[in-house]
Amino acid sequence: MLASQRLIDALNAQVGREMGASMQYLAIAAHFDSEDLKQLAQFFYRQADEEREHAMKFFHFILEAGGRVELPQIEAPQSQFATAKECAELSLTWEKEVTQQIYGLVDLAKEDNNYIALRFLDWFVTEQLEEVSTMNSLVSVIERAGEDRLLWVEEYLAREPLVEEAE
Ligand SMILES: [Fe+2]
Ligand SMILES: [Fe+2]
Repeated sequence: MLASQRLIDALNAQVGREMGASMQYLAIAAHFDSEDLKQLAQFFYRQADEEREHAMKFFHFILEAGGRVELPQIEAPQSQFATAKECAELSLTWEKEVTQQIYGLVDLAKEDNNYIALRFLDWFVTEQLEEVSTMNSLVSVIERAGEDRLLWVEEYLAREPLVEEAE
């Protein structure tokens, strides 16, 4: 096996967290979709897809490293939201937490001198820079427009989707 059992366990936990993030973003997308805010919904549908891709990257890495995939239980996401800002701030907080989780995985890989895992995790470190900065932008765009002018946010997102298309 190309990774220690404790690293495999931690990677399995991360699969669950990425799937949890995907579900949380889907719940937010549903909220905006039901309010006819289609651009905001689209932003979060895309984000949900990305999180599933992240989960699958960890998933395949575990298998390639010769570990066993053990999917953890995933908590139900929050599905009621008072404001658009609440949705964006929840997402920003989440992305900051994920950044710390990725650092935790890097620490484990470092302790194990696992250079294969370190190189694999590098991609996620860079990805988090983009994720946090995207959510920061969304919070600030929503704040500037205000809750009564979410159609401006829609117009903004139609011009500046903020999230890049998946590679
Ligand atoms: Fe992610
Ligand atoms: Fe993310």
